[in-house]
Amino acid sequence: RNSRRLTECRRDIDRLDAPFLAIYESLIPAEEEKAKQKQFLALLEKLVCKEWPNAKVYIYGSCANSFGVSKSDIDVCLAIDDLYINKVDMLLKLAEILKSDNLQDVQALTRARVPIVKLMDPVTGISCDICINNVLAVVNTKLLRDYGEIDARLRQLAFLVKHWAKSRGVNETYQGTLSSYAYVLMCIHFLQQRNPPILPCLQRMKPTYAVTVDNVECTFFDQVEKLRDFGARNNENISKLLWGFFYYWAYCHDYANNVISVRAGCILRKQEKDWTRRVGNDRHLICIEDPFETSHDLGRVVDKRSIRVLREEFERAAEIMQYDPNPCVALFEPY
Ligand code: GTP
Ligand code: MG
Repeated sequence: RNSRRLTECRRDIDRLDAPFLAIYESLIPAEEEKAKQKQFLALLEKLVCKEWPNAKVYIYGSCANSFGVSKSDIDVCLAIDDLYINKVDMLLKLAEILKSDNLQDVQALTRARVPIVKLMDPVTGISCDICINNVLAVVNTKLLRDYGEIDARLRQLAFLVKHWAKSRGVNETYQGTLSSYAYVLMCIHFLQQRNPPILPCLQRMKPTYAVTVDNVECTFFDQVEKLRDFGARNNENISKLLWGFFYYWAYCHDYANNVISVRAGCILRKQEKDWTRRVGNDRHLICIEDPFETSHDLGRVVDKRSIRVLREEFERAAEIMQYDPNPCVALFEPY
């Protein structure tokens, strides 16, 4: 499989920087869209607080972690501090309230792994998923957003990687490929590993932020405004990093033995995590450790078939970045 393994980056890589940056810019949501999201969220807060005065409404996922491209769905979490609450009953009640307020396509998916209510707001055109007490997702959203503020190259890389994954059909967890969350973690890990590093490991620094959620201690350094110069000694630009990202996942990652860990800021061995054999549906064919739920492998959705699809896509992307005369087009060609 590695017979065509590349060695050195193409000479004209810098020429590709401006066009890749232009694609990145075109993916950033407009201010107008952000305003609509705020407006919609205010409506939701009003409806929720009428029924549950103690509930808090948080946004998480790409609308809050700074890695959202334009027209993303909004992920909302209702946090309610009540041990006796029945999530299913609450979601059904919520669905009823939303329907009677003329929101469209309201659906309670109470049997999903994470039970949610889905809906569409006809005024703003925004689609939204609402879950209950998924507070870890709110915390990992903050971690990602904080990383995003340290060095501009993370957002650039993650937007381009997500755009590639969506164009190539490898951002579909129900088909065994990876979530956007997993791709962003892969980008953070990659930038932690550059030499000199472009990102630090916030969870290994002196904690300035600490919460305990579902018995998981979440601590990290969050004064990121103090880290704005962290990556200054590394002057790699976005085209070189995108090339390096695909090169790493196509030819360098040791799929048989390694786990990537943003929490540890380095590669771990599958052995030390006991991720060496299949348990239930977890096959650990590509291992991406969740930064807080460390027993959680975000690659768990990947199976024997989809790992081949993924690796072929990484190789295709690496070859395009190396040889294609116009990688800015070829990379994102629909599959
Ligand atoms: P797009 O919607 O594709 O733009 O990206 P997104 O950032 O919203 O990603 P995704 O839909 O994959 O996930 C939404 C959020 O759910 C993430 O930002 C995480 O906070 C959380 N999340 C997703 N998958 C997991 C998971 O397996 N474990 C945990 N703890 N959180 C997850
Ligand atoms: Mg989302």
